[in-house]
Amino acid sequence: MKITVVGAGAVGASCAEYIAIRNFASEVVLLDIKEGFAEGKAMDLIQTASLLKFDTKITGSTSDYSKTANSDVCVITSGIPRKPGMTREELIGINAGIVKSVSASLLEHSPNTIIIVVSNPMDTMTYLVHKTTNIAKNKIIGMGGALDSARFKYRLAEALNAPISDIDGMVLGGHSDKGMIPLTRLATRNSVPVSSFLSEERLEKVAADTKVGGATLTGLLGTSAWYAPGAAVSAMVHAIANDTQKMFPVSAFLEGEYDLNDISIGVPVILGKNGIERIVKIDLSEAENTKMQESATAVKKTNGLLEL
Ligand code: 2OP
Repeated sequence: MKITVVGAGAVGASCAEYIAIRNFASEVVLLDIKEGFAEGKAMDLIQTASLLKFDTKITGSTSDYSKTANSDVCVITSGIPRKPGMTREELIGINAGIVKSVSASLLEHSPNTIIIVVSNPMDTMTYLVHKTTNIAKNKIIGMGGALDSARFKYRLAEALNAPISDIDGMVLGGHSDKGMIPLTRLATRNSVPVSSFLSEERLEKVAADTKVGGATLTGLLGTSAWYAPGAAVSAMVHAIANDTQKMFPVSAFLEGEYDLNDISIGVPVILGKNGIERIVKIDLSEAENTKMQESATAVKKTNGLLEL
């Protein structure tokens, strides 16, 4: 299994690091436009192999897409991250051109690849790849919900003073500070609904903190987070590489599901060797469905800024 990660910045390097350490891929190619940067990160990463006991081959490349040829999965993290106070949507002007160019270059050398989009505004960048390439919709996957759900579980564990391994929960909708939908109604602690332990007010605080999870870290770090985004990507790539049929919330292209059309937005899917094996329909409450429609309206507004 050959994996390419485009963008050797903090997020891309974390993707490559976690994929390599989990030792399920034969090769990870890390590509960047900055001279020598990806080669340096790749060399530093491979020098951990004897210590962390993995055999994944890691190759760095400066803008040479021939090194990415025949990749099974390609992860696009390139573009600029947000600064404190910025929304993800404000990145569209610069990142749209980069994502369009990168996806074309990847497909030139790996026409059968599955693409995972991380660059922000992620739902719109995922939609852009759908609209500017001719690959099947099941092979274009936006990474947002897996990350947001991890932050949701963190906040729930914090509120419950529980180990995160006890917690299950999912975030749907747009990967944006206002558009995320943490499903507090369905979250559980070891199969028991969290509403059995937490008040409605406390659950609203958990949801609110989840929605600004990225912005909170950007405020602390001065740039976007990278460890959890990298880990979320590695979990998705692992599911594809091993055909695990695990369910993840991802940004998927909808054609009628959840009463939505012509949009990429966070919904539950089954991930396997074909990428999105199928979209999972769950029954949302009236309030959750209203939030999904509102979230979709916001994503479509951002999509409207694209010059397709
Ligand atoms: C985040 O929420 C980078 O959008 C990503 O951290």
